[in-house]
Amino acid sequence: MRRLIWCFAGLVTLLPQLGAAISPEFAERRAKLGKLVPDSVLVLFGSKESQDLHDPFFQQTDFYYFSGWEEPGAILIVTPAPEPGTPGYDRRIKLPREILFLPQRIPGQEKWTGRKLGPDDPDARNFTGFQSVLPAEQFERELRALLDEYPYLAAITNEPLNKIAPSKTVKDSKAEIASLRMVKSPAEIAAIQRTTDASIAAHRAAWRIMKPGVFEYQAAAAMVGSYMAEGCRRSAYAPIVGSGPNSTTLHYSRNSRQMDGGEVAVMDVAAECGNYASDITRTVPVNGKFTARQREIYEIVLGAQRAAIAAVKLGVLIRTGLRKVAFDYLNTHGKDLHGEPLGKYFIHGLSHHVGLDVHDAADDNAPLKAGMVITIEPGLYIPEENIGIRIEDTLLVTEDGARVLSGALPADPDEIERALAQRN
Ligand code: GLY
Ligand code: MN
Ligand code: MN
Repeated sequence: MRRLIWCFAGLVTLLPQLGAAISPEFAERRAKLGKLVPDSVLVLFGSKESQDLHDPFFQQTDFYYFSGWEEPGAILIVTPAPEPGTPGYDRRIKLPREILFLPQRIPGQEKWTGRKLGPDDPDARNFTGFQSVLPAEQFERELRALLDEYPYLAAITNEPLNKIAPSKTVKDSKAEIASLRMVKSPAEIAAIQRTTDASIAAHRAAWRIMKPGVFEYQAAAAMVGSYMAEGCRRSAYAPIVGSGPNSTTLHYSRNSRQMDGGEVAVMDVAAECGNYASDITRTVPVNGKFTARQREIYEIVLGAQRAAIAAVKLGVLIRTGLRKVAFDYLNTHGKDLHGEPLGKYFIHGLSHHVGLDVHDAADDNAPLKAGMVITIEPGLYIPEENIGIRIEDTLLVTEDGARVLSGALPADPDEIERALAQRN
C-alpha cells in the first residue's frame, strides 16, 4: 500500500495536468460529441512533441477540450452510445465507447523533456479518466475493428486516416465540435474571468511604467511579468505594443521601438491561465494626455464599442449584426484629413469567440447564445495621422445582453488619463 501511495505521489508531481485530466467535464463533452456524430467513429489527434527550442509543446485545443490530456503524441477515439433497437446494437454495445492511445515511454528522450505517462503505467486509467488506455501502436488495429461496425469516420483532419481507411469518406466534424466549444460551462467562464483579471492587472502594470523613452518591449515585459507572477503559464497570443506609427499595424508584435511623447500606444495583450485565454486591448497616450485629435478618434472608437456591446443580444449574428452596428457608428462620426468618413479605417473583424484559443473554435454563422464568450474590438487606423486606436473587451453573452468580463479596466479616456497621472 505504501508503495502504491509513493508511486501515486511521484506521478502526481510528474504530471501536473492530473487534476484537469480527471475532471468529469471532459467525459461529459465526449458523450455529447458522440451524440452529434451518430453512426461514426470519431478520431482526434493530439499535438506531437515539439522538435525545436522555439515553440513549447502546445496541445491541440480540440484534443484538450475532449480529453484534458496535455502530453504529446496521444490519439483519441470516441464512438456514440448505441441506442437499443438500432441496427448493430448487439455488437456495438460490446465495443469500447472511447479509447485514449498514448505513445510508449522513451527513457532516453525523457531525460530531455521529462517523465511521461506511458500506456502501461499501472494507474494510466485513473490518471487519464479513460476506461481504455492503449499503446499508440494499436491505434490502426483498433480503428479498423471499430470501422467494421460503424459506417462513418469523423475527424477534423483526414490525412493519416485516408491511408488507414481509404474506402471511408472522412466526415469533417469541425462544426459539431465548434457547436460544443462555443458555449462555455460555468467552470470555463470562471477560468476566463480569472485570466481576464490577471490580464487587467497586467495592463495596469504597463500603465504604471508608461512614459516617453520607454521601449515597447518594456511595456510588454511589465505585462507578461505581471500575469506570469499571478500564476498564468503563458501569453494567450504574442503581446502587441505598438506606439506611434506602429499603432496602425494591427498585429504588430516586434515591440522594439522607443516610445515618444505625443503618441498613442495600442496594447493588445492578455494571458492564458489554466489553459483559457482572454483578449484585451487598450490604447493609451504615452505621455499621459491624449491630444485633441487623438481624443476625438478615441471617443469615436469608444462610442462604436459601446453601441456594439449594447447590441449584444441572444440570436444576433456577429458579422451582419454586431459589426454593422460598429461600422455604421464609425462611418457616421468624425472625418479624416480629407473630409472623408472614417469607416474605411476600420479594417478588421469586430468580434471573435474566446476560450481555450484566443480565436476560439466557432461557427461564424451561429447566432449568439447565453454562455458564449466573445470580444468586441472596434478600431480605427489612420497611418497619415500616426493614429491607431483599438479598444477590445472580452465579454460573456447572457440571457439579457452581455457582461463585460474585462470591464474593470477603464476604457473611458478621462479615467485612463487619471490612471496614468498616478504612475511613477
Ligand atoms: N489579440 C488578437 C485579437 O485581438 O484578435
Ligand atoms: Mn481579439
Ligand atoms: Mn486582441
